[in-house]
Amino acid sequence: MQEYEYHRPVMLDEALGGLAIRPGGTYVDVTFGGGGHSRAILSALGSEGRLFAFDQDEDALANAIDDSRFVLINENFRYLKNFLRLHGVRRVDGILADLGVSSHQFDVAERGFSTRFDGALDLRMDRRGEMTAADLVNSLDESELARLLKLYGELPNAKQMARAIVKYRQEAGSPIQTTGELKAAVQRHLPRGMENKYLAMLFQALRIEVNGELEALKAMLQQACEVLEPGGRLVVISYHSLEDRLVKNFMRSGNFEGEVEKDFYGNVLSPIRMVSRGAVQAGEAELAVNNRARSARLRVGEKVEAENDSKAVPQNNR
Ligand SMILES: C[S@@+](CC[C@H](N)C(=O)[O-])C[C@H]1O[C@@H](n2cnc3c(N)ncnc32)[C@H](O)[C@@H]1O
Repeated sequence: MQEYEYHRPVMLDEALGGLAIRPGGTYVDVTFGGGGHSRAILSALGSEGRLFAFDQDEDALANAIDDSRFVLINENFRYLKNFLRLHGVRRVDGILADLGVSSHQFDVAERGFSTRFDGALDLRMDRRGEMTAADLVNSLDESELARLLKLYGELPNAKQMARAIVKYRQEAGSPIQTTGELKAAVQRHLPRGMENKYLAMLFQALRIEVNGELEALKAMLQQACEVLEPGGRLVVISYHSLEDRLVKNFMRSGNFEGEVEKDFYGNVLSPIRMVSRGAVQAGEAELAVNNRARSARLRVGEKVEAENDSKAVPQNNR
């Protein structure tokens, strides 16, 4: 079995199958990470094929693949269209997004992603970004913090957690700087036996806000539709329900609310149609070797062919 130090790719076969790669096509991996998915895409491409990859974390640059068909762009995928254009690319045949954080990011204590270590309360994927999680927990007031923890962490006791954080920073008389301090602040509000789950929800909320994850995802999905060739594939792997809901709604209806619009004849009006039936999940064999795959949900969309023909999808294609 292959060893992966930086990150073990999730649902590799399913992702590749979803992309339905044409050997001479142009593809984009918007979440390069350790490059596991990118390497597999390159193996499926012929000499004329091309692969552009994005990662906003400069650590990922160390994994760049030495291949003339490959370009790695150290930018946020929310600027997908602009950076592709900068490289002279207007249309692509497939896009893969394997969302969230890499194992490497979790494993480096001082980046603050993991609840396992005591490190700086940072949580930025792109360290050029100005706002860290420490800035967030020290600047928001109690109600803003509670709203954030509820919305992005889906924490049942968001209010109590927010109150505890504000109280902690007031009593300490200094800002919360480390993951250890944050954990100490909320310790009394972690239900017994569910400590790790609640901490993970708390860290998820902060991470989503610090990295503007949902806004970036929305921007990328919309631009994906603009740059995909008709018939081109969009494959997205999500790791929590907030992301997966956006992806599902978008692939079903072309909007984030999931409101299906139809024309007079009952044809769905959307630039994209869902190809996968429901969300694809990792199989038993993968789950046995990669616990991270447990929460993964993969969905495949296809750019609708009739681009100038009112963007309609026949009803029986859905
Ligand atoms: C789950 S890992 C991807 C792993 C990769 N598929 C592999 O096989 O190694 C997600 C990666 O996407 C990057 N990332 C997440 N959101 C991003 C965004 N908005 N723009 C660019 N990169 C992003 C992270 O920095 C991380 O390296």
